[in-house]
Amino acid sequence: MDKEDDVFTREFELESRNVTLTLYQKEVGDVSCVVWDASLVLAKYLDVLCSENRLGKNWLVGKKVLELGAGLGCVGMTAACLGAEVVLTDLANVLPALNKNIEMNKDLWKQSGGSARAEELDWSKHAEIDFKPEIILLADCVYYTESIEPLLDTLERLCGARNDTYALLSQEERDTPNQKPVWSQFVEAIKKTFKITPVMLSEQHPTYSSHDIRVLKLTLPSKDKKETQ
Ligand SMILES: C[S@@+](CC[C@H](N)C(=O)[O-])C[C@H]1O[C@@H](n2cnc3c(N)ncnc32)[C@H](O)[C@@H]1O
Repeated sequence: MDKEDDVFTREFELESRNVTLTLYQKEVGDVSCVVWDASLVLAKYLDVLCSENRLGKNWLVGKKVLELGAGLGCVGMTAACLGAEVVLTDLANVLPALNKNIEMNKDLWKQSGGSARAEELDWSKHAEIDFKPEIILLADCVYYTESIEPLLDTLERLCGARNDTYALLSQEERDTPNQKPVWSQFVEAIKKTFKITPVMLSEQHPTYSSHDIRVLKLTLPSKDKKETQ
């Protein structure tokens, strides 16, 4: 790791494109100042899907992707390097660090034909965003009770944007007295609106996967009917 003032970097390789993202993290700050493991797992799952023996190199090319609670942007920038048009969102105070990462890696996502930009999207503000994603990505965003309802509302609104929109969520299940009930409450709540399809460990990256990190595909049931009709 290189050190520069209170910043340290992490290199993150995308095998399907043979490029390496540099992620700038901060020594001091809140939950958004480092890249969390759930985000590495989800990013590598996208990378695996873009391999020749899965959905193919062009799977994300030109797709509209929105990341919720992007933090330092590992997942969203991965999607951009895989060719997607990506809007990475988070709280306003997170945007400076997120923008720095987007800027520092721009040669990589530009060379793949993808794009990446950051926007404020606070789940609790019920704000509209002028972007209709096909895929919503979120990693390690379920960690406090008050966020469950606004996060679900945001997901439902964004998934309703188009007929084919779905979400890919990754979450580390923490066994602490504070965190454990938050995840259970979230799963109970989300089951009422979304169809949940777990992504099996065997489908994920062999190294960047873990028994305590869930990867789920979330779809609105009405869309499932349309897909199968
Ligand atoms: C644990 S961090 C995960 C960051 C990143 N996804 C990762 O895995 O590295 C949770 C993220 O959710 C964001 N967040 C929390 N509450 C939010 C809200 N009400 N609206 C939007 N983002 C929120 C935080 O700012 C933070 O970036």
